[in-house]
Amino acid sequence: MSTTNQQASANDISAENLKHVLFPWSQQGGLGAIPVTRAEGVFFWDADGKRYIDFASQLVCVNAGHQHPKIIKAIQDQAETLCYAAPSFATDVRGKLARMIAEVTPGDLTKSYFTCGGAESNDYAVKIAKMVTGRPKVIARYRAYHGASHGAISLTGDWRRAYNEPGMVGALHSFQPYCYRCTFGQEPETCNRECVSSLEEMIEFENPDFVAAIIVESIAGVAQGVYLPPDDIMPRLRALCDKYGILLIADEVMSGWGRTGKWFAMDHWDVVPDILSTAKGLTNSMVPLGAVVVSQKIADYMEDHTLWSGSTYSGHALACAAGIASIEVYQEEGLIENSAKLGEVLAQVLGEIKAKHPSVGDVRAKGLFGAIELVKNRETRERLMPIKEEPYTTKGGMSAIKKTLAEGGVYTLNRPNLLSIAPPLCITEEQLREGLAVIDKSLDHADAMLDSAGRVAAQ
Ligand SMILES: Cc1ncc(COP(=O)(O)O)c(C=O)c1O
Repeated sequence: MSTTNQQASANDISAENLKHVLFPWSQQGGLGAIPVTRAEGVFFWDADGKRYIDFASQLVCVNAGHQHPKIIKAIQDQAETLCYAAPSFATDVRGKLARMIAEVTPGDLTKSYFTCGGAESNDYAVKIAKMVTGRPKVIARYRAYHGASHGAISLTGDWRRAYNEPGMVGALHSFQPYCYRCTFGQEPETCNRECVSSLEEMIEFENPDFVAAIIVESIAGVAQGVYLPPDDIMPRLRALCDKYGILLIADEVMSGWGRTGKWFAMDHWDVVPDILSTAKGLTNSMVPLGAVVVSQKIADYMEDHTLWSGSTYSGHALACAAGIASIEVYQEEGLIENSAKLGEVLAQVLGEIKAKHPSVGDVRAKGLFGAIELVKNRETRERLMPIKEEPYTTKGGMSAIKKTLAEGGVYTLNRPNLLSIAPPLCITEEQLREGLAVIDKSLDHADAMLDSAGRVAAQ
């Protein structure tokens, strides 16, 4: 195909999308979406044939790599056998997938309700928690994203919630450990875990008999900045929940399926939540599917209590087939192990990047889940650019960084002051280093934005 024809088709794809599609989280005018036409492994290509390393696994969901042949084959085979049966029927693929999920999730998590994505999984987690406890309130966190459905956006703590309010009644928010910018002015080595004690105080004011659940992202996602809690935080939260008969919901929509170097992030602390919600990597995102997985105790309760909810597409056979194949791929190809192994390389290179660029205030990584936080001045930790900047805009301070990344063929998810790294778990060390070198180069633009005090502090 000639360059002119390729260009025409890129333009056609963009034009039709921009004319007829409402894009998420965006003002629709002046958008510049990449027209993507094919993908394989850690790469995708735009309509002009330009190749990108997908350092975001799209939305941190293509964990096993793009167009995985085994998962494609499973979907094709299932399509020829049985595409759909209503959820009141039993299918071999739904039962098998639910068993496999019970095997890889922590502790006694045993039964799954299948959804169509992460937000719906969190909605179900909350609904189940309310049904089981008979309590009306749920405590989430401010620096958290739980999805965009009416319920999940109410749980979401960040700025996006406000545009959807008033939302779900009884959704409350607390502060979580964000050790680089501690809400309580402390340092992790010397603090008294005020983030946990303030939560307990909140529970007491709210009246524990009215609190059904606490929902946490086990490791907060890329929109927030991949916050790594000190190792004792999750065990402390578990103990707090047990003390007050509150259920612990782990949102592992993004942090699950090997992203952090374990099957689920909660595995880092051997903490077993009462309910685990997930989606994304469950099917390598090749067909939409989510699951909310409940403990044996909740499953027992449901034996003689009705689950007052349901939906047409729960446990869709095509999606379940993709889920089975995805879990097998994670196991057969050692992808969780690769995430843990290359996570060490990622952490080391991020450390080198921090040492080199005075605009880098903090770097965080667990497995192949990493973030770089930009500051104007390392000593004051003042943010490099105003936090109010629109989340998905191409304007403003991140645009020069993004341009260098695009020119270098690296796609990442960025927020003001944040660059995230979450490639498919099948990435090689060479590919990882190649992408990180482009990120390193792009940060020269961030260094150029330092104020003079920041420059002096960096010397
Ligand atoms: C932690 C977390 N929870 C929930 C969601 C929502 O998932 P979905 O977009 O599939 O509804 C996301 C999406 O990014 C997420 O990162």
